Amino acid sequence: MTTIAVLGAGKIGEALLSGLLNSGRGAGDLLFTERHPDRSAELTARYGIAGVEPAEAAKRADVLVVAVKPQDIEPVLTELAPVVGPETLIVSLCAGLPTSLYERRLAEGVPVVRVMPNTPMVVGEAMSAISPGSHATPAHLALVREMLSSVGEVIEVPESQQDAVTALSGSGPAYFFFLVEAMIDAGILLGLPRAVAEKLIIQSAVGAAKMLAETAEHPVILREAVTSPAGTTINAIRELEKHGVRAALLAAIEAARDRSVELGKPHDSAS
Ligand SMILES: NC(=O)c1ccc[n+]([C@@H]2O[C@H](COP(=O)([O-])OP(=O)(O)OC[C@H]3O[C@@H](n4cnc5c(N)ncnc54)[C@H](OP(=O)(O)O)[C@@H]3O)[C@@H](O)[C@H]2O)c1
Repeated sequence: MTTIAVLGAGKIGEALLSGLLNSGRGAGDLLFTERHPDRSAELTARYGIAGVEPAEAAKRADVLVVAVKPQDIEPVLTELAPVVGPETLIVSLCAGLPTSLYERRLAEGVPVVRVMPNTPMVVGEAMSAISPGSHATPAHLALVREMLSSVGEVIEVPESQQDAVTALSGSGPAYFFFLVEAMIDAGILLGLPRAVAEKLIIQSAVGAAKMLAETAEHPVILREAVTSPAGTTINAIRELEKHGVRAALLAAIEAARDRSVELGKPHDSAS
C-alpha cells in the first residue's frame, strides 16, 4: 500500500487526509507534518494519523503532498532537499508554484505533479486539475488521479493553464459564496427572516448546481427556461447587465489569474 504524507495539514491538507480515510485508506498509511504541536495533537486525536517531522515523512512516505501556503515553501524545500530522491513522488497543491521549482531545488529526477484543488474537497466535491512535471510518468499521474478521485473530480491540464485554473476553480467556490451571501442580503432587504432567506438561496444553489451537472444543458438554456416574457426574471437580468456583473466577473477572474502568476514569480528564475 502506498504511504502518503501531507506536509502542512491546514484546510486543504486536512480535507485531503479526511477524504483519503473515507475512501478506505488506513490511518497507518497516512502521515502529516505540522508546525504547531497542538494542531498536530488535534489532528491525531481526530483521525488517528501520526504527525511526524519532515525528514521522517520523506523517509516513510512514497508520496509527499505539499499543502503549505506558497509563501511558506522555502523552508519546506530546504528540509526536503537532502532527504528526497527520485523514488518519492512530490504532489504540490500550492497556488502559483511551478513544478520546475521543485525540480531545481530537489534531487535530479524527482517526479513532481502540480495540482490545483479547491475547498469543496471537505465534502468530497473538489475540482482538482493535475499537470505532470518533466519527470512524472503516466503511472505517477494515475496514482495522483486515484488519490484525488476520493475527494472529487479530477482533470488533467497542461501546466501552462494552471494559473487560469487557479483563478477559475481554485478560487471559484469563493465567488459562489459571495453571490449566495449577497442574495441572502437581498432576501433580508425584501423583509424575509434570515433563516428563510438562507434556506431559499442555499437550496436554489444546490438545485442549480445539480441541474448544471446532471442535465449537461448549457447554462444559457437553463437560464432561459426561468426567463419568461415580461416575467420577473428578465427584470432582474436587466439589472444584472446594467450593473456590469458579467464584466465584473471577467475582470475579477483575470485579477485572480494575475495574482497566481505573481505568486510563482519569485521562483521563476533559475535560483
Ligand atoms: N484554501 C483554498 O481554497 C485552496 C484552494 C486551492 C489550493 N490551495 C493551496 O493549498 C495550500 C494550502 O492552503 P490552505 O488554505 O490549506 O492553507 P492553510 O490552512 O494555512 O494550511 C497550511 C498549513 O501548513 C502549515 N505549515 C506551514 N509551514 C509549514 C511547515 N514548514 N511544515 C509543516 N507545516 C507547515 C500551516 O501551519 P501554520 O498555521 O502554523 O501556518 C498550516 O496549518 C496553499 O498552497 C494553497 O495555495 C488552497
